[in-house]
Amino acid sequence: MAWTLGILLGGITLLWIAWNLTLDALWQPTDPVTMRRLLTLSGIKPGERLIDLGCGDGRFVVAAAKEFGAHATGVEIDPFRVLYAKAWIWLARLSDRAKVIRGNMYDVDVSDADVVILFLSATSNFRLQKRLREQLADGARVVSYYHPMWGWQPDLVGEARDGYPIYVYRMSEHLGKTSR
Ligand SMILES: C[S@@+](CC[C@H](N)C(=O)[O-])C[C@H]1O[C@@H](n2cnc3c(N)ncnc32)[C@H](O)[C@@H]1O
Repeated sequence: MAWTLGILLGGITLLWIAWNLTLDALWQPTDPVTMRRLLTLSGIKPGERLIDLGCGDGRFVVAAAKEFGAHATGVEIDPFRVLYAKAWIWLARLSDRAKVIRGNMYDVDVSDADVVILFLSATSNFRLQKRLREQLADGARVVSYYHPMWGWQPDLVGEARDGYPIYVYRMSEHLGKTSR
């Protein structure tokens, strides 16, 4: 019985790892100092809407809602991390302004976001660019840790705790025109 259970759990874990390796962006959580730096550089204000695409365990969503008073949404494809994030939000009593959706970030409507957080990969940023450019309103900010957006001129480049860049882009007609 114990053997069967062990083999089953081992099999599920191996499948889960293999499936994660097929994603454009693997899970790597942002450290808390860098996370707060990204949130501060985003200029997020109380009541504004933030989306973290590929939100992992939901740390940005929790911090944005709790410490910055934002309405925060996370999108995550991995069901285990979604469960974890949902539990964290519930335990932190933030369900009125924080949520995590299980889904594919490439299909998500971001049109009402004031801030979009990205810590993904060069490929993911490239695949998301068209959607961000088309859907986000003027004045919305895209903040990407480590990976720049192709052809977009950042308004600001900050530094993470590990020395890697934090790119801040403010959506505008000019940004759209230069990147088409
Ligand atoms: C580098 S982690 C960043 C996690 C979190 N944003 C943070 O900074 O701590 C990237 C996350 O994106 C998720 N991810 C990858 N591809 C995705 C997709 N197509 N849709 C939604 N989430 C995705 C991964 O599962 C992983 O949790």
